[in-house]
Amino acid sequence: MPFELSHELKAAHERDSLARQDFVSSLRGYILNDMAAGMKARFEDEVEPALVRSLGRAVQSQDEVHAAMRKDTYFKFYSSVRYNAQEMVWRAVIPGVEAALPDLSRQIDRLSSHGGGSLSLNPDLDIPENVAGLDVHLMPGGYANTETAAAGAVYDNGLAVFSAGFMGPNLDDIGLSMSNYVKRRFPDFHPARILDCGCTVGHNAAAWAQTFPDAEVHGIDVSASVLRYAHGRAQSLGLPVHYHQMDATDLAFEDASFDVIFTSMFLHELSLKDIKAFFVEAHRVLRPGGLLINMELPPNQELEPYDQFYLDWDCYYNKEPFYRAFRDQNPEDLIVAGGFARSDYFRFTVPQFSFTDEDAFIAAVNAPPSFDGETGRLSASLNWFGFGGWKAKI
Ligand SMILES: C[S@@+](CC[C@H](N)C(=O)[O-])C[C@H]1O[C@@H](n2cnc3c(N)ncnc32)[C@H](O)[C@@H]1O
Repeated sequence: MPFELSHELKAAHERDSLARQDFVSSLRGYILNDMAAGMKARFEDEVEPALVRSLGRAVQSQDEVHAAMRKDTYFKFYSSVRYNAQEMVWRAVIPGVEAALPDLSRQIDRLSSHGGGSLSLNPDLDIPENVAGLDVHLMPGGYANTETAAAGAVYDNGLAVFSAGFMGPNLDDIGLSMSNYVKRRFPDFHPARILDCGCTVGHNAAAWAQTFPDAEVHGIDVSASVLRYAHGRAQSLGLPVHYHQMDATDLAFEDASFDVIFTSMFLHELSLKDIKAFFVEAHRVLRPGGLLINMELPPNQELEPYDQFYLDWDCYYNKEPFYRAFRDQNPEDLIVAGGFARSDYFRFTVPQFSFTDEDAFIAAVNAPPSFDGETGRLSASLNWFGFGGWKAKI
């Protein structure tokens, strides 16, 4: 059986769709583990020695790796299978979502009055081109800003298939890992207001509400569709979160109004110009002594050329056009440009909170970050990367 969502909005998929989901989850596991290992061996055993001979020196950049691998049949085969598996993720869930749609709005309306969260939409918001004009990661329609919760439902059901259990029972392991990192690393820090920017279906914002039950948690996104779904999803899990339709580069919150600004897998979907504008906004809305924390893919500067090339596959072949430009940046420089002091920058890696025992998690929280080819990859030894900064106290 494929991985199953555990909240009330989950779509009821027909048996054929379930079989497809099961197949594509297993296929992705095979691609990302077995085929990826085979491709790396192919590089080390054949492609790299030939490249070193022709360059007359060691390989220095992911562009050199990419140019050589593009001619290699293993890489071509890997890429076609991976690209097709990505399309199959969405195809395996869309029929179930379409069948569930008429009922979904009714369920969200019913759940709306059942918990402490809220939803506020802004029909006049300009939807930026990175959302309005892009079927990002080959998701049909992208995060479309529609009257229904369809995009949210496709994303949530698709993520369940895509991640094959690696994201935890509520697909919220990133939010749990980051919030529990903060709770254990900074035990004297007690945030009262927390904001998740680019929250999509709000799963990770809800995880912050779980970790800090006394805090008021907010999530923003530009797409009304994903927010409608996020609201119903959090209500059904009994986690009070306030969702708003808002642009992260122009936040409609007052100066110094949050203790934590959080993002996850968000920055790599923005242009560099928007990333810079977002960090200025994050600095503005944080209270002095507040914390900016971002979960992201590890920056290229921390990785070997082959691992840089491997992670940037999505930029070239998975409709994620800003992916590499973000990963080529030094995150420290980015937040300093937003107004944070260089001395207040920090970075870390943590194992998955959902699958790690407490002692091992605490040991990792207090250890220096560790980077290898597995960091940020959906694999059995997955480690999340995070970085951020404190806003200077007055
Ligand atoms: C990859 S998803 C983020 C995933 C989510 N945070 C998670 O942890 O799975 C990117 C989200 O950012 C939203 N987004 C893109 N540009 C935005 C902007 N300028 N302001 C707010 N949200 C934005 C998209 O609509 C999308 O839902």
